[in-house]
Amino acid sequence: MPLENTGQILDAARKAGYCVGAFNVFDHLSLESVINAAQDFLAPVIIQTSSGTVRRFGAKQLVAMTRTLSDDLSIPVGLHLDHGTEMELIQECIDAGYTSVMIDASHFPFVENVLRTRMVVENAHEKGVAVEGEIGILAGVEDDLVVQQDKAIYTTPEEAIQFQAESGVDFLAVAIGTAHGFYKVEPRLDIETLRVLHESVEFPLVIHGGTGLSMSILSALVSAGASKLNISTQIKKVFIDSLGSYIKTHPGEYDPIKMLKYTRGELMNTVSDYLEVLGSKGRINEESESLS
Ligand code: 13P
Repeated sequence: MPLENTGQILDAARKAGYCVGAFNVFDHLSLESVINAAQDFLAPVIIQTSSGTVRRFGAKQLVAMTRTLSDDLSIPVGLHLDHGTEMELIQECIDAGYTSVMIDASHFPFVENVLRTRMVVENAHEKGVAVEGEIGILAGVEDDLVVQQDKAIYTTPEEAIQFQAESGVDFLAVAIGTAHGFYKVEPRLDIETLRVLHESVEFPLVIHGGTGLSMSILSALVSAGASKLNISTQIKKVFIDSLGSYIKTHPGEYDPIKMLKYTRGELMNTVSDYLEVLGSKGRINEESESLS
């Protein structure tokens, strides 16, 4: 099927009480692995790319690759720009056919964040593209953005409601103690805050920093109302570790197809584990192709 508006994918997830995996991809193999695993599990899925990946391939090529791989499938696939910070690059993704973009102006004061986000919302909605905003500050690294864990600021329901009303975002990334990248210390998540946020707002909530969270924490996040979970570093780790271990265990074998097939299998296993715990497995009925 054609690429699906990410807002609609998340609205359906919120309504039915499950969470959609949003996996950062960086090349054809990672993209293919995520889409294939989601199709095997009949799970809706969000493909997301960092700004760095857009700079590497160009938005048009990423849209073409994603469309080609998902056109004949029965699952809804959204294509999302993760952590957009440059207006020009965000616009490139909107124009090329991404089904959602994130504008991350969370490091600006609240009012400036609202203004910048609203500008993107106006452009994106004109083209039927959904928008993710962010308030509060997440710790860790995403492309060039580095934030110390002790500076993380958690989101309050009042802020979330005001931000959505004034900016018009379709879904919102909130800060409850997760961080980008590998956790150096045990994360102290405020899952109760997520539950209160979820009960107070009427739009889907996004949790960043999925890598390194245990299956029981992920399951608690879903129960508390997370509708979108971002996973990036774990995908990169499995990709690099799998290629590395294949090369090590097959010295002298110069058959890239075998190496890539092995890596795709490992990536698919990783993605499948996430889809299972997020509760998105089996949500697509193959006959009706509808979201439940
Ligand atoms: P991780 O790299 O910790 O999985 O975080 C991904 C993310 O939140 C991307 O926005």
